[in-house]
Amino acid sequence: MGGGGVFRFSSMASSPRLLVLLLAWLCCAAAEAADTIQQGKSLSAAETLVSTPEGVFEVGFFPPDPKQPSRLYLGIWYRGIVPRTVVWVANRAAPATSAAPSLTLTETGELQVLDGTAANGTAAPSLLWSSNTSRAALRGGYYASIQDSGSLQVRSDDGTLSWDSFWHPTDTILSGMQIAVRAPGPPGRGGTNERMLFTSWASETDPAPGRYALGLDPAGSGQAYIWRDGNDIYWRSGQWTGVNFIGIPWRPLYLSGFSLSNDRDLGLHYTYTATNTSLQRFVVQPNGTDICYMVKKSSQEWETVWLQPSNECEYYAACGPNAKCTVGQDGKAKCTCLKGFQPKLWDQWNAGNWSEGCTRNPPLGCQVNQPGDGFLPIGNIKWPDFSYWMSTVADETGCKNACLNNCSCGAYVHTTTTGCLVWGDKLIDIHELPTGAYTLNLKLPASELRVHHTVWRIATIVSAVVLFVLLACLVLWWRRGRNIKDAVHRSWRSRQSSTWSQQNSAMLDISQSIRFDDEVEDGKSHELKVYSLDRIKAATCNFSDSNKLGEGGFGPVYMGTLPGGEEVAVKRLCRNSGQGLEEFKNEVILIAKLQHRNLVRLLGCCLQREEKILVYEYMPNKSLDAFLFNPEKQGLLDWSKRFDIIEGIARGLLYLHRDSRLRIVHRDLKASNILLDADMNPKISDFGMARMFGGDQNQFNTNRVVGTFGYMSPEYAMEGIFSVKSDVYSFGVLILEIITGKRAVSFHYHQDSLNIAGYAWRQWNEDKATELIDPLIRASCSVRQVLRCIHIALLCVQDHADERPDIPTVIIMLSSDSLSLPNPRPPTLMLRGRELESSKSSENERSHSIGTVSMTQLHGR
Ligand SMILES: *[C@@H]1O[C@H](CO)[C@@H](O)[C@H](O)[C@H]1NC(C)=O
Ligand SMILES: *[C@@H]1O[C@H](CO)[C@@H](O)[C@H](O)[C@H]1NC(C)=O
Ligand SMILES: *[C@@H]1O[C@H](CO)[C@@H](O)[C@H](O)[C@H]1NC(C)=O
Ligand SMILES: *[C@@H]1O[C@H](CO)[C@@H](O)[C@H](O)[C@H]1NC(C)=O
Ligand SMILES: *[C@@H]1O[C@H](CO)[C@@H](O)[C@H](O)[C@H]1NC(C)=O
Ligand SMILES: *[C@@H]1O[C@H](CO)[C@@H](O)[C@H](O)[C@H]1NC(C)=O
Repeated sequence: MGGGGVFRFSSMASSPRLLVLLLAWLCCAAAEAADTIQQGKSLSAAETLVSTPEGVFEVGFFPPDPKQPSRLYLGIWYRGIVPRTVVWVANRAAPATSAAPSLTLTETGELQVLDGTAANGTAAPSLLWSSNTSRAALRGGYYASIQDSGSLQVRSDDGTLSWDSFWHPTDTILSGMQIAVRAPGPPGRGGTNERMLFTSWASETDPAPGRYALGLDPAGSGQAYIWRDGNDIYWRSGQWTGVNFIGIPWRPLYLSGFSLSNDRDLGLHYTYTATNTSLQRFVVQPNGTDICYMVKKSSQEWETVWLQPSNECEYYAACGPNAKCTVGQDGKAKCTCLKGFQPKLWDQWNAGNWSEGCTRNPPLGCQVNQPGDGFLPIGNIKWPDFSYWMSTVADETGCKNACLNNCSCGAYVHTTTTGCLVWGDKLIDIHELPTGAYTLNLKLPASELRVHHTVWRIATIVSAVVLFVLLACLVLWWRRGRNIKDAVHRSWRSRQSSTWSQQNSAMLDISQSIRFDDEVEDGKSHELKVYSLDRIKAATCNFSDSNKLGEGGFGPVYMGTLPGGEEVAVKRLCRNSGQGLEEFKNEVILIAKLQHRNLVRLLGCCLQREEKILVYEYMPNKSLDAFLFNPEKQGLLDWSKRFDIIEGIARGLLYLHRDSRLRIVHRDLKASNILLDADMNPKISDFGMARMFGGDQNQFNTNRVVGTFGYMSPEYAMEGIFSVKSDVYSFGVLILEIITGKRAVSFHYHQDSLNIAGYAWRQWNEDKATELIDPLIRASCSVRQVLRCIHIALLCVQDHADERPDIPTVIIMLSSDSLSLPNPRPPTLMLRGRELESSKSSENERSHSIGTVSMTQLHGR
């Protein structure tokens, strides 16, 4: 149907034959299932609009109540699923009662539901509902269409979205919807002032707004609530912990994915992405229950996979303030006062009326001027409501002190994903969960903690005895010649892999299910060759400049050809390693045993006359930076190659950090240390150098900061502290370089002196992350996958080492599409390096003191 048909119609009315033809054509066109409504056109009660291309959803008029078939509503439902499952209703409060209602797209781009002419034929059609968008720009050429996601949209000819039913939901959350405090509006216009609520139907057969509404806390806590009759809180989701809501211990929910973001238009909001896209939905039922449904493939029937509230403790504040709710064996709620509290009204409490809750007794020390208040951790609970986020407190101790120093603070919590949360003196809606490791630190006076201390003392004595017995056993075991080393190593390994993931049991579960041992070649026997200096000299033409491949962190590298024709790379180490020859040789032998597909293989060494030389396999494609930053070769790396490189580096690091016997921190991970073999597989080089040059295996302080500016984590650059997490930081920078095709150091020259991490974060935060993508790969890449990599990189370059994921977690994130990622924190410490950049190259080893690194504060939201 052409948009101008109506106007031509009147001018052609003089020719009756043409008129008949035109009418016939119009009728036929209308009888087909259309997929759009053009500006000025209508959809009648007999027609429907079907989504394209899959036809998942259908828009049209429907009678929700079979007993009242003349009451019609305009709605969106799943096409082909019986009985009709309606996900959105327009005129929910005002049904059409005439025989000929219509959905009209006006000339001004407004959607209207009109009731047709009344039976007496004289009254004008009445307006039942309107999208209220006629004030929007009137450039004309509007059309309305329904998407396979279930969203009904109005766009103008140039594709600009001017209205979307996802911004004004009814009672159903569909995949792709954003859940915000205020309803979203056209992109870039700063949202709307209307509250965004998912309001239940009045009853199963009446779509009128019912008593219950689900929405986000307008106070900004990021929690979802269901309210009853407006203001009465009926249910609370609990705080968001980065991957899930703490009150919803249902794993598939967070695996399939709500993700939290914050932007200028919408503020804090969630985006829901279902794994089985359209066939999963959340509905607020007329009785206030929030249900997640999923279609069973076999029978095409809706199956309830999850619902809340599902037991008595899940009703908001079931026990009143300062009491804990536990579900008993009989399924009924049982309330107990928290330690240090007693029922406010004993009689009522004993009679089972818990609404008044409990009050503090004895008082806190700070209330009666007695020092000694402390904290008691209470485990496995849904944290109470009304937490206050102390955004400036960075660590557990700071958080604890903040609570201790404020007499009205009743409890605190600090985790890496939530930061520091504190509560006032009324703790409301505490529910003991059957599983889950959420702990609340409850403030108590010294007298209440003392009891705890005696228990503690007994526990200490008991554990001391147990420890002694264990130790004795261990010594015996040792004597029997067992290799205790392995056990220690294993325990270290498990500790290492769990630190970051502790909060996220979901991730942990996956990490156990992914096997990492695929490429580890540790088992293969490997011989380290010892070359004579003469042989090396012959191979490299006496270290001639024409054979020089480059200057690495620890000395120059030469290309060499051994007598048999084998090509090798020869690294001539600078002399001041500070280690004896024997010691050094042992180190080399250890390092040579590290064998992994993504590590450059050390073939041999030469330790003769002050010379320390390492011989590696030769990589014909040289290093990653030679491709990535070379305008002529850049194009050879398409996105899939780049992604393979990212993954390969991660696997190499995993081996160094976790799976190798030595647990190596690389310390100088950068593009020039990633070599590429003939098939462009990445291989990490220069690993183990820090170790050979003397140093602890764990986190340690160095006076001399080795490393390359731009890749250095803040704690390393400023305090000289490094750990596996400093490598994670460098890896994050490397990912950003691979995606942008720009050197990290080049970012110091523009963009207000932000470093690459700060710049990327800002683009991300302003929803302009796609602009980061190297123009050369934009066409070939999956934008979704690249954005995910940027997201992961931003997690890796967070300021605080303990907020960065460890490498096993990074690998899980890279390999799983559905796992929702925590939001990256804004980098606050910006290293400004203009002064440092004056020196000639970024490749060389750098040493600089803290004084030359200046800091600027980036203001996060
Ligand atoms: C026709 O019906 C409408 C409402 O149904 C009423 O307002 C109007 O007065 C009626 N007109 C006549 C002429 O009866
Ligand atoms: C449109 O505006 C009218 C009047 O302000 C209001 O009553 C109605 O609820 C609005 N409709 C929508 C869909 O927002
Ligand atoms: C509310 O309705 C749903 C289904 O319609 C049902 O599963 C749930 O048990 C009901 N809840 C209550 C509290 O009645
Ligand atoms: C998709 O839904 C089907 C049931 O319809 C279920 O068996 C399958 O596990 C779901 N897939 C995912 C990835 O959740
Ligand atoms: C419980 O106690 C509150 C406060 O005293 C009172 O308002 C309420 O009616 C009581 N509820 C029942 C079921 O007795
Ligand atoms: C103390 O804590 C209460 C409750 O969290 C808060 O309202 C108040 O502002 C805090 N006072 C100070 C000085 O921080």
